[in-house]
Amino acid sequence: MYVQPADATQRKPVTVPGLRAMKARGEKIAVLTCYDASFAAHMEAVGVDVALVGDSLGMVVQGNASTLPVTLDQMVYHTSLVARGVQSTLLIVDLPFMQFRDPATALAASARLMKEGGAAMVKLEGGADWVCEVIAALVEREVPVCAHLGLTPQSVHRLGGYKMQGKTDDAAARLREHARAVVQAGAELLVLESMPAALAADITREVPIPTIGIGAGADCDGQVLVCYDMLGITPGHRPKFSKDFLEGRGSVREAFAAYVEDVRAGRFPGPEQVVR
Ligand code: KIV
Repeated sequence: MYVQPADATQRKPVTVPGLRAMKARGEKIAVLTCYDASFAAHMEAVGVDVALVGDSLGMVVQGNASTLPVTLDQMVYHTSLVARGVQSTLLIVDLPFMQFRDPATALAASARLMKEGGAAMVKLEGGADWVCEVIAALVEREVPVCAHLGLTPQSVHRLGGYKMQGKTDDAAARLREHARAVVQAGAELLVLESMPAALAADITREVPIPTIGIGAGADCDGQVLVCYDMLGITPGHRPKFSKDFLEGRGSVREAFAAYVEDVRAGRFPGPEQVVR
């Protein structure tokens, strides 16, 4: 039975401006994906800054080969579960594939995720002009936006697989340009996925908003991992940039706590997890 933990942290709520203040102070931001109330409660208890209801749930929870089948109803449902487990942890949710194809669709989807699900911010993938137009429309109507650049899993078919991005000079320049564009459009947080560490470090220096890396080296303002990967329970191959934090520990909560400590101390990712 799910029981609200008695030892939930008494910290002040993590907010969108608060994340920017953490960047200014040089404090690392610890983010984990989360899909249900029990995991959310453990994350809350150990001080995870942000719980991200990622559409990665399509792969690690539903067993699909990609994130594309995930529906808006499913994201609303999982967001509402996570919302019941957190109090001070900031709750961010992915807009699923095709739910931000134009400003009107993105506004309607975000309204559901925030009103029914309880999210404080939505995340969407890409940095092209049309994505920036969507970001601007959301921000104008008080929907905080997290952008996502580099390996964008919803583009898996165009990219031809889950491959590192930004490896050539041209590709790196395009990603830097997209980073500037999403900031200009009003994004307040930026996930950088699977790109060379040096490129992520450059982007992190160049933008005023916090960057959250996954497979993007140690110099981002924060880190995110898929919670099932960092518990070592995703079947099959674990991404090289991830680490099994449950190994040698007695509980899921201890694993989450070790992750938060390692991110805060700049120990994760270590040299073994930095893919060049
Ligand atoms: O869907 C997801 O879990 C994500 C993170 C990996 C950043 O987008």
